[in-house]
Amino acid sequence: MPALTTTRDGFLLHGEPFRILSGALHYFRVHPDQWTDRLRKARLMGLNTVETYVPWNLHEPEPGTLDLDGLLDLPRFLRLADAEGLRVLLRPGPFICAEWDGGGLPFWLTADPTVRLRTSDPRFTDAVDRYLDLLLPPLLPYMAAAGGPVIAVQVENEYGAYGDDAAYLKHLENSLRSRGIEELLFTCDQTDGDHLTKGGLPGVLATGTFGSRVDRSLARLREAQPEGPLMCAEFWIGWFDHWGGPHHGRDAADAAADLDRLLAAGASVNIYMFHGGTNFGRTSGANHHHAYVPTITSYDYDAPLTECGDPGPKYHAFREVIARHTQVPAAPVPSPSPKLPPITVELTHRAALLSVLGPAVHSAGDPLTADELGERAGYVLYRTTLPTPGTTQIPGTGLLHFAGGVGDRAQVFLDGAPAGVLERERYDETLPVHVPRPGAVLNVLVENMGRVNYGPRIGVPKGLLGPVTFDGAPLRGWDCHPLPLPDVPGTLPFAPATTPTHAQPAFHRGTFEVETPADTFLALPGWTKGEAWINGFALGRYWNRGPQRTLYVPAPVLRAGTNELVVLELHGTTTPRAQLTDAPDLGPEPS
Ligand code: GLA
Repeated sequence: MPALTTTRDGFLLHGEPFRILSGALHYFRVHPDQWTDRLRKARLMGLNTVETYVPWNLHEPEPGTLDLDGLLDLPRFLRLADAEGLRVLLRPGPFICAEWDGGGLPFWLTADPTVRLRTSDPRFTDAVDRYLDLLLPPLLPYMAAAGGPVIAVQVENEYGAYGDDAAYLKHLENSLRSRGIEELLFTCDQTDGDHLTKGGLPGVLATGTFGSRVDRSLARLREAQPEGPLMCAEFWIGWFDHWGGPHHGRDAADAAADLDRLLAAGASVNIYMFHGGTNFGRTSGANHHHAYVPTITSYDYDAPLTECGDPGPKYHAFREVIARHTQVPAAPVPSPSPKLPPITVELTHRAALLSVLGPAVHSAGDPLTADELGERAGYVLYRTTLPTPGTTQIPGTGLLHFAGGVGDRAQVFLDGAPAGVLERERYDETLPVHVPRPGAVLNVLVENMGRVNYGPRIGVPKGLLGPVTFDGAPLRGWDCHPLPLPDVPGTLPFAPATTPTHAQPAFHRGTFEVETPADTFLALPGWTKGEAWINGFALGRYWNRGPQRTLYVPAPVLRAGTNELVVLELHGTTTPRAQLTDAPDLGPEPS
């Protein structure tokens, strides 16, 4: 019998009435040295539970290999939650959405366009089962049945928004049960339309995902499930941002009023997010409804605990609301963490991106996609030559046409000179270019900006996506260089910078001194677009398009003494300087 059971209108934990007061906290979005701090702050806000997804794509980077190290040490996260007296809701997927690269589905699986994702296609369910065979044994000791903190496990994620393959959901239920999961299972779905019906499973608790219209949403949940606890499995108290879009915020008083409504109705809740954290490295996903829109690096989410772990206005407001319904710990609200004093970093050394090309895969015909090249995330450089300087009306000019579009952003160079950019976001397919000479070298550097994590376009490939023509003539014969950048870019062939500005894709390196490590925020005014690392830790992507203007640097990434900053700038910089600031700038909120 599971530790958590349901009655006609509530939960029992070990036979005692229990209301789940949970907050989402994804361990993979928080530096592992900060897990305890964030968990403690969840407890001090009055929560009794935390919820986390499990990203399949990080845990099984290649088929058959399970990674539970460092940021992925889920057993350790569960132990720390337990030590704080928190229960855990576990959402192992296989699909997690979460604005996470590919919604957590591994690219080595989605790279095969014939696999029918999130269905009972055996090629999908076999891969899921092999993953669960790896993942679950080390987690079983942390289930409530074994005395651990995990009291419930989610099946799939908002499946009603995607499909209606009931056999697939049943398969997942059986897969969890046959591998030893005895805890309460639940599904979660939006409460509109027929999502709750399509995403539900007979005998499995249905929960809702919503952020407002609490009474209506709870009524719909009750309609779909006449008996059992009412639970909002994702109470959206903020939102995420896309590059080039507005920075989202939600008024704390408004969110608190809805939390109060939920609790007054006797419902259980998982606040999404309690602490959003960061899409470090290349882990952010993308949406594609009318157009492709990639998600930014910060996952601050306007959550109660800000990206750097400081209590924000919602922390105080939610604690007050929770205190109206149950006892909250008497300890005072934690203070903001110390911040590093502002520092200017001189980036004194450079290494051209093209100097670190890996070996090419030659395609005699059309260019290969990034997925065909086995490239999960990052860049591919495609190289060929243009036989003529063009045949159109303007002498020396021709039209490049990328028939399948680009995934997701292509920088075009002719004989090394920047010639233009094509973006999937804008459905770009053509680029007029001036060709300096017959036989000019065409380089196309394509960046994967994040794999779609919601809707029917999950699994869509990256790189160059079809034939390329020049003035109507097919360009065949391509050297395709995947650029899986080294883990520690500090080891690249750097040379002293000779000019203050730079207009080519390049790595820039500088050092700075720190007395006592503390949180800080990296600002790159005058820079355009790229990624940054400190002491080899991948902070994520930056882009002057905003809204995000600073990257969070967790204190544990720094050390007392000399530290190293490496920036990969894809376009150009007007200055060789970066700033470490003492406050985040995630962009202006819409008025
Ligand atoms: C849905 C998904 C979550 C997340 C939110 C939006 O509810 O289930 O994973 O994507 O939307 O942040």
